[in-house]
Amino acid sequence: MADKLIIFDTTLRDGEQSPGASMTRDEKLRIARQLERLKVDVIEAGFAASSNGDFEAVQLIANSIKDSIICSLSRANDRDISRAAEALKGANRARIHTFIATSALHMEKKLRMSPDQVFEQAKQSVRFARNLVDDIEFSPEDGYRSDMDFLCRVIEAVINEGATTINVPDTVGYAIPELYGQFIKTLRERVPNSDKAIWSVHCHNDLGMAVANSLAGVKIGGARQVECTINGLGERAGNCSLEEVVMAVKTRKDYFGLELGIDTHHILAASRMVSQTTGFVVQPNKAVVGANAFAHASGIHQDGVLKARDTYEIMRAEDVGWTANKIVLGKLSGRNAFKQRLQELGVQLESEVEVNAAFARFKELADRKSEIFDEDILALVSDESVSHIKEQYAFVSLSQHSETGERPQASIVFTVDGTEVTGASEGNGPVDASLKAIEQHVKSGAEMVLYSVNAISGSTESQGEVTVRLQNSGRVVNGVGADPDIVVASAKAYLSALNKLHSKAESIAAQG
Ligand code: KIV
Ligand code: ZN
Repeated sequence: MADKLIIFDTTLRDGEQSPGASMTRDEKLRIARQLERLKVDVIEAGFAASSNGDFEAVQLIANSIKDSIICSLSRANDRDISRAAEALKGANRARIHTFIATSALHMEKKLRMSPDQVFEQAKQSVRFARNLVDDIEFSPEDGYRSDMDFLCRVIEAVINEGATTINVPDTVGYAIPELYGQFIKTLRERVPNSDKAIWSVHCHNDLGMAVANSLAGVKIGGARQVECTINGLGERAGNCSLEEVVMAVKTRKDYFGLELGIDTHHILAASRMVSQTTGFVVQPNKAVVGANAFAHASGIHQDGVLKARDTYEIMRAEDVGWTANKIVLGKLSGRNAFKQRLQELGVQLESEVEVNAAFARFKELADRKSEIFDEDILALVSDESVSHIKEQYAFVSLSQHSETGERPQASIVFTVDGTEVTGASEGNGPVDASLKAIEQHVKSGAEMVLYSVNAISGSTESQGEVTVRLQNSGRVVNGVGADPDIVVASAKAYLSALNKLHSKAESIAAQG
């Protein structure tokens, strides 16, 4: 069998631990479906014991996704492990990922446990988990800063108890590629039963080396699983980015010599979906998925690429989902052309009802905007009215007036559970006035912790995409709205965030 690198995606668990990146259950399912299309081997769907919201999300994903292994994180205790097993019951293939810290610092200061207590708890937990599920991953948290002798002892014991994957986290992003690679290699050489488990790497990006460290763990250390997230989402500076690690292994197959199961054509759509859902904008110069990743601005480069693409291109943009022809559809385009474009973009709507709703939105937009870009289509399908999430609040219309030297005023019509209401207010600017007009009715008491506007396709003719992040009683939600009028986009984003804030399905970010 070819030497395969397993891709373990933790966008929905470690990615969601990023402050402000919380996702609703339905959003998580949507992303999980995209990860399945990408042919990710393992999806870490959440941390079932951390909240009811997370339990339900893991359960929903386990019941809905058929091709990927579905995993839940769990602390090394019977209650967490039972909860994870319960949430994973419906999965075709289930994995429990249990962890306990092994570094002297974490054991003493955080867990207040002796090394012997940690050793026993690790062993006991894997034994308990193995009675519930066959596929068990064990992580010694802060593994890279742990004592080598102690770590070898713990790992040998948990493999004996039935752990099938051993993941060695660089929890705080402290590693250096060569040293981390050597660390994994030494562990594999010193643990007597190391050949009974698959070795995995899990690197954080605090020093900007998560991808390099993961690749060194693979190349030098012999790891055959990489844990990563879409867009490198994750706590602090994030995790190893899936798109970068996958494209490095694919593009430099001559060096790594490894097979991947990933269908890279769906990478861009996954990146957009995660960015739009969380409000974490992708920087333009981000490798693989940034807007400039395949743009050649200098004359010399453009000339070279026109003569022979490989003068300056090491990957084909199409292979990760970019399209050469960016102006795709217009007012006269029919439903079939629209549907085909969705397929080419790697977007699969759940039902014909959703396709019809998306097509209706597309027609509305095409009436107001002559050129519809791929970015417009991707924004449009992420709209809640397309995915038929039950909306408490829905935008109807807005008018606003602003003039130099005068205080802007806005009047907005929106529905609350289907009944139209009108609000009017003034504010510091037209956006402020519009959102205050909404609050007149809703009185959410929420604090706005982020407001950002992005031109979807780069010019003033493009749609504005607005992200609003609201926080209330410990809950953090993101709302996104797109429209050629950024004041309208802002009102839509605000209403979308309010819908999530008031939704029962809302989950609170899991904390590891
Ligand atoms: O970074 C880390 O140590 C983790 C573990 C829970 C695997 O995310
Ligand atoms: Zn982590």
